[in-house]
Amino acid sequence: MMRLDKYLADMGLGTRSELKKAIRGGRVIVGETPAVRPEMKIDETHDTVRFDGKEITYRRLEYWMLHKPAGVLSATKDPKQPTVLDLLGPNRRKDLFPVGRLDKDTEGLLLITNDGEMAHRLLSPAKHVNKTYYARIDQEVGEAAIEAFRAGIDIGDDTLTMPAELMVLDRQALSESPFNLPLGSVKGNTFCDPLLIARENTRNNPQAASCREVLVTIQEGRYHQIKRMFEALGMQVLYLKRLSMGNLVLDAHLEKGQARLLTEEELDRLC
Ligand code: URA
Repeated sequence: MMRLDKYLADMGLGTRSELKKAIRGGRVIVGETPAVRPEMKIDETHDTVRFDGKEITYRRLEYWMLHKPAGVLSATKDPKQPTVLDLLGPNRRKDLFPVGRLDKDTEGLLLITNDGEMAHRLLSPAKHVNKTYYARIDQEVGEAAIEAFRAGIDIGDDTLTMPAELMVLDRQALSESPFNLPLGSVKGNTFCDPLLIARENTRNNPQAASCREVLVTIQEGRYHQIKRMFEALGMQVLYLKRLSMGNLVLDAHLEKGQARLLTEEELDRLC
């Protein structure tokens, strides 16, 4: 059971004060009767609620895919800087949080939810959920780096990093078809723009063919992990974008800064 104004606010229909006004103004019907009291108790599993004639079904759990741009903090709130939650707009429900963090300058896939259990499952290192990133590196990446990523790297923590996969997007790999990516074919429209762009750059620009673009797949989510792994090998990450988390792949049609709810299918695959 929950208050009617909270029910409507959770579903993104306005602020609590806007909704109180709407309820008192007779715009909300519960069952067959216009509601008059914002504090009226609603059984969210059984009651039918209509707002301006439209039926509003309650979602207890919500899952958003965000295409995080650079310059935004992965936090729920910050007194000075914009956060990823601000990108969901002022009418978002208040119990949402990002599943893990991307650095301020990192772009790409970020899941935002109010499902604590799911977040815990996805973030637990014991569950080995793969996260794949596209990265641009300041110098050539060779076999030694690939081997070091596989074996584990000392980045100053108590333990080495868990085995990670490093794939260099060099001219040869790009000309080999089909593209043997960890997530499936680059031709599938579910895969993301940066790879397609990387491929085009490499084709048209001989400079860009010098092995500076990579895909990295890690199983953990340590602080600045990928940057620190490259740093330990004397290299620098110039650009980083997360493309996938488990089975969830960044929607190529989602512009930077945009978010959408996960589809049923995406949610099924993620669980
Ligand atoms: N590794 C990093 O270094 N930064 C991120 O944002 C994610 C992974």
